[in-house]
Amino acid sequence: MKYSNPANLAIIACPGGESFADEVIGHLKRKYRHSHKRTVDELAKRHNISVEQAALQIDLINKIVTRGSSSQSGADRNSIHGFKVPVKFTVFANGEIKSEIEESIRGKDVYIFQDVENHYPLNFSGGAVNNLSINDHLMTIFVTIDAARQAGAERITLVIPNYPYARQHKAKGREGISASRIGKIFEGLGVNHIITLDIHSRDIISAFDRMRLENLHASYQIIQALSKLNGILNDDFVVVSPDTGAVDRNKFFASALKKPLALLYKERDYSKVSRDASQTNISQIRLLGNVKDKTVFMADDILGTGGTLIKGMKLLKENGARRIICSISLPLFSGKALSHFDDAYREGLFYRLIGTNAVYQKEVIEREWYINVNISGLFAQVISRLHQNQSVSSLLDNAEIINRLLSQTLIAEPQNELPFQQNGNG
Ligand code: R5P
Repeated sequence: MKYSNPANLAIIACPGGESFADEVIGHLKRKYRHSHKRTVDELAKRHNISVEQAALQIDLINKIVTRGSSSQSGADRNSIHGFKVPVKFTVFANGEIKSEIEESIRGKDVYIFQDVENHYPLNFSGGAVNNLSINDHLMTIFVTIDAARQAGAERITLVIPNYPYARQHKAKGREGISASRIGKIFEGLGVNHIITLDIHSRDIISAFDRMRLENLHASYQIIQALSKLNGILNDDFVVVSPDTGAVDRNKFFASALKKPLALLYKERDYSKVSRDASQTNISQIRLLGNVKDKTVFMADDILGTGGTLIKGMKLLKENGARRIICSISLPLFSGKALSHFDDAYREGLFYRLIGTNAVYQKEVIEREWYINVNISGLFAQVISRLHQNQSVSSLLDNAEIINRLLSQTLIAEPQNELPFQQNGNG
């Protein structure tokens, strides 16, 4: 008999990753509730019994299959599963961090969530802790993986939409390759799998021995958001890569949208550190291509200080760009980036910025120039498939669903319907 019972799927949310984990759990609950109902209905129909009787049968099978799974309360053994494992996180006076898993996870398929860029006050045992650094969050991941391994988890997957230290992926001179080394530490601690978003460099993936990494893309959700900007895809439109490292990503958007591609070429002076967009270490930037009187779309993986985009947008405007829309997979908004974008919007440098909820943000999502796209559904689908050892390849390649979306959108949309203002308020 076919049934779907996620009893062995366990989710641990580190304090930074709590909000994203809760969104993913919401999707998983809906999905499993739906598939439980389908199975119950099918069973009732096939054996000509009532749905109540069919539900009892399914619950009995689930009970037998999950026998020995000690963490499950009576309610959890049923189809509508809780997923989240209670964990006590403590920060000691000297800054050390401890994770204690408060329920058995022996033999479970464990997914550990963390957002290493969450700088909001977070709940730890003993009270809220303010503004943890990326290194504190990373240490929380390390001790939590270890606690899960010591507690007998069967398989551990790290769900880190924002892979830490990803921009240190290649060594120049006497630098280390920290991005890969951090992955090796995860692997050494017993992580089997990582799920992340738009990883900065594919070099990182090839550094591991056994650990697998699923690199998801938000391109479908971003194009969906673009297509909702009334008529914009019917404009005289060009995709611009904000630097040479972003060419593949922007080539994908250009070919999906069937629009031309242009390129910004930037150089950084690495003797300086970019602290904010007004004092960036970008020493020069050039445009290859034509943006005059066009709507420009520019996609980057990370928005840190914002220097790359703001400098790029200024050059595009100087070259006659009509309106500019950017998308960001990982909107970090480091330091004073948010107020620099407020200023840039007021000056009319850009029209909209589309960002994902991979990084927890409160203030930016309230801005009229910001469009928040939710990628938690995609993560839930990938987790559900991995848990059931099913292929995820169709979820990694968005080309087909984007084609479908665009064929509907372009037919439905009127030509150039929306008048806009150069100051970005339109
Ligand atoms: C660089 O290669 C990345 O893809 C981003 O363009 C960069 O990290 C953005 O940083 P910032 O916003 O500080 O210029």
